[in-house]
Amino acid sequence: TGCAGSSGGDGGGGDEVVTVGFAQTGSESGWRSANTESMKAAFSEENGFDLIFNAADNDAAAQIAAVRDFISRGVDAIVIAPIVEDGWDDVLQEASDAGIPVVLEDRTVTASDDLFASWVGLDFKKEGVMAGEWAAETFGDTPTKMVVLEGTTGSAPANDRAEGFDEAIAGTGIETIDSQTGDFTRDGGKTVMEGFLQKYGVDGIDLLYAHNDDMALGAIEAIEAAGGVPGEDIQIVSIDAVKDGMQALVDGKINFIVECNPMLGELAAGLVTDVLAGDEVEKQVYVEDQSFDQEAAAAVIDSRPY
Ligand code: AHR
Repeated sequence: TGCAGSSGGDGGGGDEVVTVGFAQTGSESGWRSANTESMKAAFSEENGFDLIFNAADNDAAAQIAAVRDFISRGVDAIVIAPIVEDGWDDVLQEASDAGIPVVLEDRTVTASDDLFASWVGLDFKKEGVMAGEWAAETFGDTPTKMVVLEGTTGSAPANDRAEGFDEAIAGTGIETIDSQTGDFTRDGGKTVMEGFLQKYGVDGIDLLYAHNDDMALGAIEAIEAAGGVPGEDIQIVSIDAVKDGMQALVDGKINFIVECNPMLGELAAGLVTDVLAGDEVEKQVYVEDQSFDQEAAAAVIDSRPY
């Protein structure tokens, strides 16, 4: 872990405008909207940047094409929130060959870390562990039937949140009876949960682990439509702590939320500035997450920026 150094500032450290291509995943969730806002605010004209923004609509091939376009336009630096972990080696090598530094934000890649300057984001595995520890403490040895709404298949948060959670619930009475992707969207969460409810009924499910709040919010609609009481008949644990998720927690429809902080813009802009100035930067910059039960959520909900 480490500190990203200067935050925002004047782009490359001089009077010249710094052109940055930012390849965002898309606009799948409330978290993503907050992240995009944070990035646009930090990479602003006022701060000396000319931001070329691309949102790939969760299409991994389209995101790689956007990065290739940034390379051919000769931008000064590229920032990527990689949709999936795999498949980045070639295009990162191309950026490196063109002398364009790459900073990753939010999600990680499996490519060698020689191919990018730095990454700033959250510890997704730890988020999964924190969510799983709550479930382990809440259900213990009690036989518990759990369904899982996974994030986008192949994405770092879906992979790591699954791994961390599973580690934390090992040896408890919690059994995963079904697990499918809802692609981090509210609609996806609703549709997949409808399928789970048709298959197992409200009575056949005790616990839902949703890899993000949006999918939990979609699932809440499905549970209510099936005549169940979310948070009681089916307990829910999710990740993000966006406003709507926190409200559902305060309302007792979600039981526990682990935060995933989307406010990464200033740190990412600071890294780009430092890298372009030739300063040494940390390879990985972790931002801390908190977790909330109902009482903790009620205490902070009005003061949170997203
Ligand atoms: O990569 C972070 C994840 O992406 C967030 O948890 C989710 O809401 C978003 O879509």
